[in-house]
Amino acid sequence: MANTVPDFARVENGALAGKFLKKFWQPIALSRDYDPGKARRIQVLGEHFTLYRGEDGEIRLTQDRCPHRGTSLAYGWVEGNSIRCRYHGWKFDGAGKGEDFPAETATYASRICLKTYPTREYLGMVFAYFGDETPPTFWKFPELEDESRGELLAQAVVLPYNHFQRIENDHDEVHAHYTHNFMPMFGLTELPKMSARETEYGMVSIATRSDGSRFDSHCFMPNILYREVPIPQDTTKMAIHFACRVPIDDVSMLSFMVNRVGSYDKEAERLASAEDYAELTRRVMNCEITLEDVDPAHPLLPIIQDTVSIGGQGAIVDREQENLGQSDVGIAMLRRIWAREMKAIAEGTPPKQWYRPEDFSFSVRALEVIQEVNGG
Ligand code: FES
Ligand SMILES: [Fe+2]
Repeated sequence: MANTVPDFARVENGALAGKFLKKFWQPIALSRDYDPGKARRIQVLGEHFTLYRGEDGEIRLTQDRCPHRGTSLAYGWVEGNSIRCRYHGWKFDGAGKGEDFPAETATYASRICLKTYPTREYLGMVFAYFGDETPPTFWKFPELEDESRGELLAQAVVLPYNHFQRIENDHDEVHAHYTHNFMPMFGLTELPKMSARETEYGMVSIATRSDGSRFDSHCFMPNILYREVPIPQDTTKMAIHFACRVPIDDVSMLSFMVNRVGSYDKEAERLASAEDYAELTRRVMNCEITLEDVDPAHPLLPIIQDTVSIGGQGAIVDREQENLGQSDVGIAMLRRIWAREMKAIAEGTPPKQWYRPEDFSFSVRALEVIQEVNGG
């Protein structure tokens, strides 16, 4: 049977979904992992790159393979703002220009360049633009810039399944009742009614309940989740949650998550001392233990729970075999938008110009209800 669902999943080797993602700035690393002089090999959208921070503090992204004989530049040395290959010592300056090829002439060196990519740092993350055109508007999240909300905590976790399953899940509020069993903690026992609409920046899926509560999940195109979430430790507050789902390759991804917490050090310590989440997830998925056996206070429990449900669909879910229901309208909306934009790329027609309107707000009516239910 002919495939009727567009391929939102595959991003490698020039696939349309990869081309779509390349039209936007993508987070690729955490700023704190790169001290000046540090280089690392990273993989994004199925390709390897070398990322390093020069002595001037600027972070630089280059093609991974040395133009001489192809070893990874990440294994070499950062010298000043340049990178020198470990194999035969070819050195390229911060803009990618050949600077010093010890066994060759200066003329030869000046003719060979590295491909470099624009980078920016924001909210503790390093972003890069992989497209061929002028970089698009860089999404800003002023609510998360507000230091009065607490210290910035940026995290990145590797997840063993396709990025699009994770983005779809961002608009699936029903799973919070089963996969996480979060909602009863806030007195919200009723399953939500779901609706969704396209916006200037992407889309919003809306979960309402008869108690008057409303949770909005915003997608800033194409792969960012931005929303407010209740805090289990303090039912008088909502926290802002930013997440971006970036493919490493077709079957794994990096999930970047940023929020503001009371104390970064305390949160970092909790994360560092927690049992390895990947190992716990592996054991649950091998049915050696169940999710009920995982410490309920594990700081990454929601990620473990999501990985079991989403990874349980398979690394790339077969969307031809699904039966979507009325609660899946957010997922259907997301797919419609992606399908339309991917078609525009395939046909060479102009894509939609996305922007954040001046009056953007979370428009959440949830806190009042939670406070009321909890007698706050
Ligand atoms: S492969 Fe890099 S200098 Fe030879
Ligand atoms: Fe979840």
